[in-house]
Amino acid sequence: MRTHYCGELNSSHIDQEIELCGWVHRRRDHGGVIFLDLRDRAGLAQIVFDPDRAESFVIADSVRNEFVIKITGKVRHRPEGTINSDLTTGEIEILGYSIEILNKSKTPPIQIDDEHVHDDIKLRYRYIDLRRSLMQKNLQLRSKIVKELRAFLDNKGFLDIETPMLTKATPEGARDYLVPSRTQPGNFFALPQSPQLFKQLLMIAGMDRYYQIVRCFRDEDLRADRQPEFTQLDIETSFLNENDITSLTEEMIDLLFKKVLDIKLPSPFPRMSYQEAMNRYGSDRPDIRNPLELINVGDLMKTVDFKVFSGPANMEDSRVAALNVPGGCSLTRKEIDDYTAYVSQFGAKGLAYIKVNDVTSGREGLQSPILKFLPDDVVKNIIERTKTMNGDLIFFGADKTKIVNDALGSLRSKLGYDLNLLKDKWAPVWIIDFPMFEYNNEEKRWESLHHPFTSPNTDDIESVKKDPGGAISRAYDLVMNGIELGGGSIRIHDAEMQKAVLELLGIEKKEAQEKFGFLIDALSFGCPPHGGIAFGLDRTVMLMTESESIRDVIAFPKTQTASCLLTSAPASASTKQLQELGIKLSKPKSE
Ligand code: AMO
Ligand code: AMP
Repeated sequence: MRTHYCGELNSSHIDQEIELCGWVHRRRDHGGVIFLDLRDRAGLAQIVFDPDRAESFVIADSVRNEFVIKITGKVRHRPEGTINSDLTTGEIEILGYSIEILNKSKTPPIQIDDEHVHDDIKLRYRYIDLRRSLMQKNLQLRSKIVKELRAFLDNKGFLDIETPMLTKATPEGARDYLVPSRTQPGNFFALPQSPQLFKQLLMIAGMDRYYQIVRCFRDEDLRADRQPEFTQLDIETSFLNENDITSLTEEMIDLLFKKVLDIKLPSPFPRMSYQEAMNRYGSDRPDIRNPLELINVGDLMKTVDFKVFSGPANMEDSRVAALNVPGGCSLTRKEIDDYTAYVSQFGAKGLAYIKVNDVTSGREGLQSPILKFLPDDVVKNIIERTKTMNGDLIFFGADKTKIVNDALGSLRSKLGYDLNLLKDKWAPVWIIDFPMFEYNNEEKRWESLHHPFTSPNTDDIESVKKDPGGAISRAYDLVMNGIELGGGSIRIHDAEMQKAVLELLGIEKKEAQEKFGFLIDALSFGCPPHGGIAFGLDRTVMLMTESESIRDVIAFPKTQTASCLLTSAPASASTKQLQELGIKLSKPKSE
């Protein structure tokens, strides 16, 4: 029906007769001449109808926003002074010859490109919202990213293999989405939180290199970079170790950025142990564009006359850390109070600080509510260790290590943005040497930091059992600009080790057999050493499009309460459906 996309026209098309199809973006009547901005997925073009072609002119005059039309016309230069450098088609316009209305539109509930429309309305009319140029660009880039990833993996001999959606629970730490079985009333499928177990079975089956662009389902609290259903680029390989896998996928990400954005990422990506990341940044997904670092000062505080500091300085699992903020003296009292309120949401009981107006003039040069508690030598040591200079401010956190890391780690990120401290544009980093387990104090049991199929860096089962807290895993995460893009590990391929780890996690033998018996069985029938990784595709696209919300890179996303406003899902089931499934509701159906 057409010869070109609207958005691809430029001065090289001048004098050509063309046909276009698209949506009326805007209609303007300029003293007897009608201008139509016609829009398609490639962009906008300006069509001019003058009264000389009376029949077309009347139709052009009658169209309204979002009508779908077809036009024919001739490309010409825009007159002097009307060139629009904001548009790729801004040097040209099309003199309209004929116009045909392919379909009318009711007045749209949202104006395309109106930024003030409420999100709920946008999601309700998502098909109109998706007409926005930003959404068009994002989904086009997403498609390009997927194409490049597939091409890379295909080149490296990976097989694209599908795994079931109706399956059993896969423990990735979230709640499952359950699907009731009609043929076995009372039983439920779980939608996969990831294809973790199936991809391991594929390695046992000898597929050697697997990948899949796959939907995963997790019923968890939503955030700006989380959706209840999201997409992973899921990878598994046999006979490769952690260095092989991280190098291979680093090459993939490097090439992806080169091909899609023409960006050269730093090579090789730096590597950092989990411990170092927690020490320096208070987080295992540090944004290393941010130069601020946490510095331990606990050893200086052991004997000071300030319980808030000396307490944690002398306790296990506790930390006293400083964060030097260059130029921080200019922070006002109100700003410091706001930061104190900010860290309190992470459990911090306060946010002590020292303003360093002049490092050379002793206490005189300092300003702080806690100065009176700190002896001269301690103050001197703090300033030396934090490399504080005139005009800087030092924040302090003292508490359980987790609270200090969460509070100062988040404060560090916030200050990075607030004070415009971020350097470089792209900062990938591999985080390695994760602990195998983390102790859940509330439930009094060990939990996997990654998942229970991650291998420890030793074959010695007894040493893992003896000191679970000290066991290090063969896991790795790829973090970029503070976002966890992907994570993976070398897996346990020994049935005994797998049993021991499940036992350590407090999963009884019977339960282990019930839940993971098929995997443990499979491990004992010739399982190759294997490992892999999964990248969050939505997060990758989000990062590459510099989007603030994961919703901006998913065609039909869910809301904060995991519902779809367009289709009104989830919805109630009919009494007949429920009966067939053998389900009785304890609460009446909501309207
Ligand atoms: P993990 O749970 O770390 O690993 O998930 C891998 C990546 O998926 C992305 N991701 C999400 N993206 C959007 N919304 C969510 N709710 C969400 N949850 C996770 C993240 C994350 O890094 N089976 C293992 C991988 C493996 O060991 O190979 C797994 O699923 O970017
Ligand atoms: P207080 O003696 O409680 O008034 O606290 C003195 C200063 O220490 C105030 O600036 C508090 O914000 C700060 N403070 C209190 N508790 C902590 C803590 N756990 N970590 C860091 N600073 C704290």
